[in-house]
Amino acid sequence: MMDHNISHIMGLRQGVVVLLLLQGGSAYKLVCYFTNWSQDRQEPGKFTPENVDPFLCSHLIYSFASIENNKVIIKDKNEVMLYQTINSLKTKNPKLKILLSIGGYLFGSKGFHPMVDSSTSRLEFVNSVILFLRSHNFDGLDVSWIYPDQKENTHFTLLIHELAEAFQKDFTKSTKERLLLTAGVSAGRQMIDNSYQVEKLAKDLDFINLLSFDFHGSWEKPLITGHNSPLSKGWQDRGPSSYYNVEYAVGYWIHKGMPSEKVVMGIPTYGHSFTLASAETTVGAPASGPGAAGPITESSGFLAYYEICQFLKGAKITRLQDQQVPYAVKGNQWVGYDDVESMETKVRFLKNLNLGGAMIWSIDMDDFTGKSCNQGPYPLVQAVKRSLGSL
Ligand SMILES: *[C@@H]1O[C@H](CO)[C@@H](O)[C@H](O)[C@H]1NC(C)=O
Repeated sequence: MMDHNISHIMGLRQGVVVLLLLQGGSAYKLVCYFTNWSQDRQEPGKFTPENVDPFLCSHLIYSFASIENNKVIIKDKNEVMLYQTINSLKTKNPKLKILLSIGGYLFGSKGFHPMVDSSTSRLEFVNSVILFLRSHNFDGLDVSWIYPDQKENTHFTLLIHELAEAFQKDFTKSTKERLLLTAGVSAGRQMIDNSYQVEKLAKDLDFINLLSFDFHGSWEKPLITGHNSPLSKGWQDRGPSSYYNVEYAVGYWIHKGMPSEKVVMGIPTYGHSFTLASAETTVGAPASGPGAAGPITESSGFLAYYEICQFLKGAKITRLQDQQVPYAVKGNQWVGYDDVESMETKVRFLKNLNLGGAMIWSIDMDDFTGKSCNQGPYPLVQAVKRSLGSL
């Protein structure tokens, strides 16, 4: 009887501990980007905010907004639907955070000028951001400045600092939760040195979304095959190419002063492809150019996971033991990509380092319908979610 009671109490205690862990913010983040241009893809790639599962991720980031006349704006042809969707997702899952990302590759650095150049225009921008986020029910801002150079890095730091201060002020006046502030940042060692004042940023950012992919692609000179997002250094990597992997990039950010729990590690749902120049098919094999464009994403050297699944039929798949990711070859086509197994390996890695969580670029390139890969809807994001455990 007594024993029974004790074990009952112990059971309760364990339950309380689990609850505290869940509420104490120690759970991992699953940060998912979705892109506004994926709504322009043809079926079955067409992805609208309605395709977003409200329980898939802990944080969703809509990309990208831009800047006009020192104010934040969204140029999306389905703007109204977007705002409605955001609100309905949050009604279904009140714990879901939805952020707006500003910038992106096309926007580049030039898009942030002249806004960042003076304190007056920055203030105008910061005010417009708060008004915009609050009125459309967003939970925060992600700054994806790709990438500030050495001359611009102090302006980047200032912008982040002024946003953080303003978000804090807004919070003290508001009945709502504080707006979150994050940044999409480079994983290249040289870029990290040039672009970021890491210790200052660490104070102001809630977390960083590490763009730990695009390490290799058909822009390479000399043009040889290489993996988009290797977890670890390859045995052939020497000199600067030993930096081109997720493990190095994560370690370097932490080494420069970003707390590990603020590092959210990027995992891609796409691969980079090459056209082989010879019968050689290994990593480092000569290539003659980018791989053929996929039928849906229509851009050479690039395949979404739902296209890769189709490519894999009849392809030869090799798992790189050193870099812990797969590549596939069919005819003269070569693609380095991530699959369920490499996602699981990457999540084990980030949990061992106590990182903040995983970021997915992007959910619209996973097999979100489940029709292309026969692994159910969102096989890659679901694998990450499963491996992370509780969100
Ligand atoms: C997506 O956003 C970009 C940048 O703001 C804009 O130029 C483009 O027209 C948008 N695309 C759609 C489909 O709304």
